Amino acid sequence: MIIYNKANNTFTLHTRNTTYQMKVDQYGVLLHTYYGARVTDADLSYLIRRADRGFSPNPSEAGHCRTYSLDTLPQEYSTCGVGDFRLPSLELELADGSHIADLRYAGYEQRERKYALEGLPAFHGDGGETLVLFLEDAAAHVTVELYYGVFADYDLITRAVRIVNRGEETIGLCRAASLCLDFQRADLDLITFDGRHAMERGFNRAALRPGVQSVGSIRGTSSHQHNPFVMLCQQDAGEDHGLCYGAMLLYSGNFEAAVERAQFEDARLVMGIHPYHFRYNLAPGESFTTPEAALVCSPQGFAGMTHCFHRAIRERLVRDAVVGRKPVLVNSWEATYFDFDAEKLMKLAQEAASMGIELFVLDDGWFGKRSNDRGGLGDWWVNQEKLPGGLSALADRINALGMQFGLWIEPEMVSEDSQLYAEHPDWALCAPNRAYTRGRSQLVLDFSRQEVRDYIYGELGKVLSSANITYLKWDMNRSLSEVWSAALPADRQGELYHRYVLGVYEMLESFHRDYPHILIEGCSGGGGRFDGGMLYYTPQIWCSDNTDAVDRLRIQYGTSFCYPASTVGAHVSAVPNEINHRMTPLETRGVVAMSGVFGYEMDLSRTTAEEKEVIARQVQRYKECWDLVAEGDYYRLSSPFGDAAYTAWAHVSQDKRRALVSLVTGTTCAAPPFLTLRLKGLDPHLCYRVNGEESYPGDVLMAAGYALPMFKGDYQSLQLCLEAE
Ligand code: DGJ
Repeated sequence: MIIYNKANNTFTLHTRNTTYQMKVDQYGVLLHTYYGARVTDADLSYLIRRADRGFSPNPSEAGHCRTYSLDTLPQEYSTCGVGDFRLPSLELELADGSHIADLRYAGYEQRERKYALEGLPAFHGDGGETLVLFLEDAAAHVTVELYYGVFADYDLITRAVRIVNRGEETIGLCRAASLCLDFQRADLDLITFDGRHAMERGFNRAALRPGVQSVGSIRGTSSHQHNPFVMLCQQDAGEDHGLCYGAMLLYSGNFEAAVERAQFEDARLVMGIHPYHFRYNLAPGESFTTPEAALVCSPQGFAGMTHCFHRAIRERLVRDAVVGRKPVLVNSWEATYFDFDAEKLMKLAQEAASMGIELFVLDDGWFGKRSNDRGGLGDWWVNQEKLPGGLSALADRINALGMQFGLWIEPEMVSEDSQLYAEHPDWALCAPNRAYTRGRSQLVLDFSRQEVRDYIYGELGKVLSSANITYLKWDMNRSLSEVWSAALPADRQGELYHRYVLGVYEMLESFHRDYPHILIEGCSGGGGRFDGGMLYYTPQIWCSDNTDAVDRLRIQYGTSFCYPASTVGAHVSAVPNEINHRMTPLETRGVVAMSGVFGYEMDLSRTTAEEKEVIARQVQRYKECWDLVAEGDYYRLSSPFGDAAYTAWAHVSQDKRRALVSLVTGTTCAAPPFLTLRLKGLDPHLCYRVNGEESYPGDVLMAAGYALPMFKGDYQSLQLCLEAE
């Protein structure tokens, strides 16, 4: 609900459990007054206290009143050059060379439906409303439109900003954040999700310290290293208690999330496109729209925030080609790498089919001169030596086994050893008079260029119409360097990083439009582009190249804070694990992978009869409980980052009548103690039968817990299926 209170000049956004408020003050400055648990529609600006603060300057309208300073007041969208020295949200370079933006309120508009953003991912669908606040810099002739989308049922508030040049001279946009959120307190913890290739989204929590702390990416993708989702919370907040805020950016390129703990113990979060090498020219009449950011505030801890993001992402962001259960898949990558022919693939597919697996995905190596990762990218035609008869012959044989057929592609890349590169060397990102920097021995195509995108889309279109393909894995295996485009003039090179992302989005949107039946999985060397932007186009993302069950506990734990299990690609692979050489039981690998979009990625023809039985049972179990994983509420029962003897989590159906509880132990010691697992999210008044055997009241399972058996050996696992009686 959006309320404009004329008497107070306040705009209040109510969701089911939260309230967000802004106020236009006596000078037309838009102040941020409150974001927290839902309250009645009062003017909350009384919370803003003023004092004469030395060295915090005062705008001219304030005369000699030294208690009014933009440097100390909580701003809704912070500016630059006019006396607020904290993190700016907007930075303009005007035609006269000044970097000044002074924004004053100029009006508002309310819409019944949630806004959309052209060419950019955004939450969508029913139940959303829009508020647009217009701010103006009269001297610069610039209008800034602040967009708010309010999804009351999800406690979700989205934000985006449109900057319009209404003057007669070109201006430069050097910084344009998607959101600014001021807090009149700084006793907060910042939580970020960081890591590296094959170890993405670790959980890092630290108290705000004075000054600016930030995470971000200048790699051209959202990156393995830092995720464009961050949290701020009360210092005593945990899973079930305490005020916490989550902020996600729906963007797949360079980003920055910066928090400043400022001098008077206030804090500011600014999130948006990273200002590094960002400069957009806005000619008279032109505008720039930022990516969307989404906020959730949970007065009751992390779990509440997670549930809001999960439901909103599932129901209002992802546009899924598959309604209902997704097919259990086998992916050829860790089974064969580049070394395969049709017969080897068929053997893998036959084994998979016999265990109930439903989709065969042919990964890298099927096209051009691609016998290793040094060649072939860009030549999207089938390698007839490996696959005589082409993809259709293979797909037909796979289909005859009762399985669907899926294919790997990496559209944004080109190998130097390819026909495409020989014909169009200038299509790769490169800078004049400089050598290329290779990444995984490949170069990046300039996706800001229409002719490059048109060519790739045309070639991939031929592939898709050549065979019965129902699934695509869209990979992206290197960061951007030599970011310079032959198609842009010198003063527009600062637009390239963003134009690249827009080009990727445009092509993904074309796939979505032209091949609505194809399920697309996103991937970037595993989870190097796991973000809300990609999820709008690719309803699931390969979570990490690390398939080791124990490392995955951490990766999937960090991922779970924002992103639902229905979006997390997770596969069982062989042991010793390819990446870290760890041995884990097959059962445990199944339990961990079942907490996502489930599949296998191993040479199934090399499994023993006993292992085949275990796999067939796992596939069957997933088919029985997939809806809990895909649609249930997710509860973290313990953290893999602490000292707990086990990592546990649960998926609970929305009606609380069913649950799937999973647990993995660490390493064992002699004479281990007996452990108890306290569950969450159950109905205290219902009685649950556990694995078809004993029954326990819900309140007992949550307060007293489930008595765990004694585990023998390292990395053991347990799965409990709970059914209300
Ligand atoms: C990186 C991906 O994350 C892997 O799953 C696999 O598809 C390889 N690329 C193929 O080159």
